[in-house]
Amino acid sequence: MTLSRRKMLAVIGGGTILAATAGAGAFVTTRTPHKAIAPWKAAGGYEDPRRRALSYAILAPNPHNRQPWLVDLQTPDTVVLFRDKDRDLKHTDPYSRQLTIGLGCFLELMTIAASQTGHRVDLDIFPEGEDGPVAIARFSEGATPDPLFANVMDRRSCKEPFQDRAVPQDLIAKLQNSAQTVTDVSQVAKLKKITVDAWMTETLTPRTMKESVDLFRIGKAEINANPDGIDLGGPFLEALSIAGILTREAQLDPQSTAFAEGVRMYDEMLNATPAYAYLTTAANTRADQIDAGRRWLRLNLTTTSLGLSLHPVSQALQEFDEMKQHYANVHEMLATPGHTVQMLGRLGYGPEIGPSPRWPLETRILNG
Ligand SMILES: Cc1cc2nc3c(=O)[nH]c(=O)nc-3n(C[C@H](O)[C@H](O)[C@H](O)COP(=O)(O)O)c2cc1C
Repeated sequence: MTLSRRKMLAVIGGGTILAATAGAGAFVTTRTPHKAIAPWKAAGGYEDPRRRALSYAILAPNPHNRQPWLVDLQTPDTVVLFRDKDRDLKHTDPYSRQLTIGLGCFLELMTIAASQTGHRVDLDIFPEGEDGPVAIARFSEGATPDPLFANVMDRRSCKEPFQDRAVPQDLIAKLQNSAQTVTDVSQVAKLKKITVDAWMTETLTPRTMKESVDLFRIGKAEINANPDGIDLGGPFLEALSIAGILTREAQLDPQSTAFAEGVRMYDEMLNATPAYAYLTTAANTRADQIDAGRRWLRLNLTTTSLGLSLHPVSQALQEFDEMKQHYANVHEMLATPGHTVQMLGRLGYGPEIGPSPRWPLETRILNG
């Protein structure tokens, strides 16, 4: 992962650069990538109950915003979900564990959205084994609306520093059915160190850092053209890009000033964390990973309903060689021996942030 808009802004003093840009006022007001975030506005605007539910499902959280979902709608009342393997993250997610979790988030969001029109969804997970479809979802009448739907449009992964403010225990208690939590100060400090160390490892391992940098979408035109990956938008970042400061090359060079400052800022963000939420599973089958994704989505909607921010920090859970020690440390701390930590997230009070880009639903339908 790399710098957010706010951090990058601090790194390069964007205001000065922007002021020097001709027509700065017009530039600032025209940088929103409306096309890339249009699927948030289109959600719900479909008559077919499957398309309607899918128009929300595509707003699910997913690693590196790869949106690895493809659906076949040929069979009536049925959605067949596939993983788009062209969207794999072979370095940071070599076993596609995280991508599968993202597909679990998608299925849960589809199910919650379908319940709003009274549709029940029965899921058959990996019915043909690992190489076949991820799920066959059959829609039928007879569901009660799920109240968590109320939080779908406001749900975010908040990649910003959180306030120096503890999460009250009565709110933590409300999360107990959704996840395990860490609030003890010394345990939180230990986890901060693990997440910072793991982030450094991902960032200093050239092939994993390059995987992220290759997914940078810098500025409005790139974000609109490819509404996925790591979006670095907004007037300041775009001005930096025009000024030649925000480049893929600088982000790949540990000797560059922007890189060093980025590390300092990321460190600050990871440390501005009052609590954590995490999910573990006893086994680590594909079905467990889907289940973890379904639980994470419900957790994220619940935190939204409580006014809390949630931000997945997955580096220590990644399964490449250089990460082994951090993976072992986080497992020793959070999991029973032999169990798997599927998700770990910062929990607290972050700033309000906007929706992230999505590919339109139509581009994700194979046929039907
Ligand atoms: C399995 C999984 C792992 C993720 N890991 C990270 C992570 O390590 N760092 C991060 O900033 N975001 C992480 N995310 C959040 C995604 O980047 C985010 O869902 C995506 O960019 C879309 O943004 P949104 O959730 O705000 O809609 C993860 C999400 C999932 C489902």
